[in-house]
Amino acid sequence: MSRYDPFAQYYDQVIGDRSEVAKLLMRLIRRHAPRARTVLELGCGSGTMLQELSRRYETTGIDNSRAMLKLARKKCAKAELLFGDISEFSLDRQFDVVVCPFDTINHVTSFRAWQRVFENAHAHLRPGGAFIFDVNTEHKMEMYRADPVTVDFHSGAFSTVSVRRLRRWHYQVDLTLFREVRSDLFRRYQMSLPELVVPTQKILSELSSLFRRVTLLDPDRRRPTAETEELFFICSAPR
Ligand SMILES: C[S@@+](CC[C@H](N)C(=O)[O-])C[C@H]1O[C@@H](n2cnc3c(N)ncnc32)[C@H](O)[C@@H]1O
Repeated sequence: MSRYDPFAQYYDQVIGDRSEVAKLLMRLIRRHAPRARTVLELGCGSGTMLQELSRRYETTGIDNSRAMLKLARKKCAKAELLFGDISEFSLDRQFDVVVCPFDTINHVTSFRAWQRVFENAHAHLRPGGAFIFDVNTEHKMEMYRADPVTVDFHSGAFSTVSVRRLRRWHYQVDLTLFREVRSDLFRRYQMSLPELVVPTQKILSELSSLFRRVTLLDPDRRRPTAETEELFFICSAPR
């Protein structure tokens, strides 16, 4: 059973609006793979990105949470949805673009498994295709850690996020949702997720054996800096 299963039905409520990320993803695909027709999403979750991507592309999503896939099925009737592990899957075809957005790779908790995700993305890309993913940086995790609890309010429920550092590169993210069940009575739901955070140089060195070109993008500033919180990797020209 995936860690996401028990919490899946509240996931969208806790995470809130992700339409900006979905729009950014669409812009990146248009810029870096203008002729793309097919897109594979690794860790498609409840289908928010797929829903947007399916407006323009033939889409396939893979996730290892059956509960998240069930939600995705409701949102994206047109997408092909597959149950599987993104570090181990093998499909008998290739795609114009492979994406792994919204820090999904951080949820893969060994670097050997990250390497397998990269190899799989590469193996499932057509020549000329692009692999696009983003990561939470160490700076972001440390910001959350310094501020023990971040409270957010989305559609009638409060959620909190707190981050603990377990050891070098390894963090635990605790998400709590307080949902109002009737006036002044809230029910609490909790999810703890381990996250692996890897230095940018190490990621780049791994990607360099698979792709000829890797472009870095910080959606919040002109260039990535030490203050970057979310970093996109756009990998093109697969070797
Ligand atoms: C942060 S959510 C992102 C979901 C989606 N990409 C989005 O943008 O809304 C991470 C998703 O990755 C899935 N996931 C994590 N590790 C996985 C693995 N090894 N194989 C397949 N899916 C995985 C989780 O079940 C979850 O749905």
